Amino acid sequence: MTDPAPNLDAALRPKTLSEYVGQVKLKDKLGVYLQAARGRKEALDHTLLFGPPGLGKTTLAYIIAYELGVNIRTTSGPAIEKPGDLAAILTNSLEEGDVLFIDEIHRLGRVAEEHLYPAMEDFKLDIVLGQGPAARTIELPLPRFTLVGATTRPGLITAPMRSRFGIIEHLEYYNAEEIATNLLRDARLLGFGLDEQAALEIGARSRGTMRIAKRLLRRVRDYAEVAGETTIELGRAHSALDKLGLDSAGLDDRDKKYLEALIHRFAGGPVGVDTLATAISEDALTLEDVYEPYLIQLGFIKRTPRGRMATAHAYEHLGLPVGGSDGDLGLFVN
Ligand SMILES: Nc1ncnc2c1ncn2[C@@H]1O[C@H](COP(=O)(O)OP(=O)(O)OP(=O)(O)O)[C@@H](O)[C@H]1O
Ligand SMILES: [Mg+2]
Repeated sequence: MTDPAPNLDAALRPKTLSEYVGQVKLKDKLGVYLQAARGRKEALDHTLLFGPPGLGKTTLAYIIAYELGVNIRTTSGPAIEKPGDLAAILTNSLEEGDVLFIDEIHRLGRVAEEHLYPAMEDFKLDIVLGQGPAARTIELPLPRFTLVGATTRPGLITAPMRSRFGIIEHLEYYNAEEIATNLLRDARLLGFGLDEQAALEIGARSRGTMRIAKRLLRRVRDYAEVAGETTIELGRAHSALDKLGLDSAGLDDRDKKYLEALIHRFAGGPVGVDTLATAISEDALTLEDVYEPYLIQLGFIKRTPRGRMATAHAYEHLGLPVGGSDGDLGLFVN
């Protein structure tokens, strides 16, 4: 996904592991792996990073390259359809120890993916020259590189692909304090005042997601500046976030539409994701990738083999009696 203010964003993007906020367990582990690879003067093992959008996968890929003191080449799954696309990237300007970052790696073309296996494993590429009976294969040696793959949909990574990653790590949602720390840093770097309580308030309403937090900070700052304030204070953060339609848990209108459909139209579930998607005029993939991970994190919904179900927490959050509000109660208390 692209960020709305890319230039500003690039300037604020943390460069080193220590500037990268949160993800403590992941950072600890990665710190060791990086140090060990540096010590042995070897390329880092291939690394797969997965987690919902906007949590910092791309940022981490850049940090890995920075910490190793190597170059990073970036591409994305959909850009590598044919083996030729892959060959062009792997044989062009990739040097010993460099990082090759493939975003959305679950969208790699199947044939290209099969060519990637020997490249990852044995650092060689089989290239087929010619066609038909005259075709022959030549083997091209590659520098030892580190593939860093990122995906929001780990379930779509094939087993053979997955098994070729030595490091597989999951990014987690941030808590309000971690987000606030990062927002305070951004405000300091950009030279505007941000009260700590205001930063925490934005943090609490950002769906645990750095990218969303940064966007909200920009909007809240707009409100503060138009009101002639030089520092963003808690009251301003509150009122601006309310105007943006975010509730205390960071749910927006779309989330509420999802929960209300699940509760009112399907009696709290279970209901299949496709049916639910149709009911709110969305596609099922968006539901699964964008809406649901955070609702699950909050404990508001559950994915069950029979479909989606609303939990008691969701009813409480919406101020509804637990079990539904439609007479015939689809009672489900977790
Ligand atoms: N831990 C962090 N500390 C500081 N800034 C962060 C952190 N994680 C993310 N960011 C910032 O949040 C924004 C989104 O991060 P990034 O683009 O790396 O997310 P992503 O996981 O690659 O998202 P997508 O799946 O949409 O590609 C960037 O501006 C990045 O600088
Ligand atoms: Mg990314």
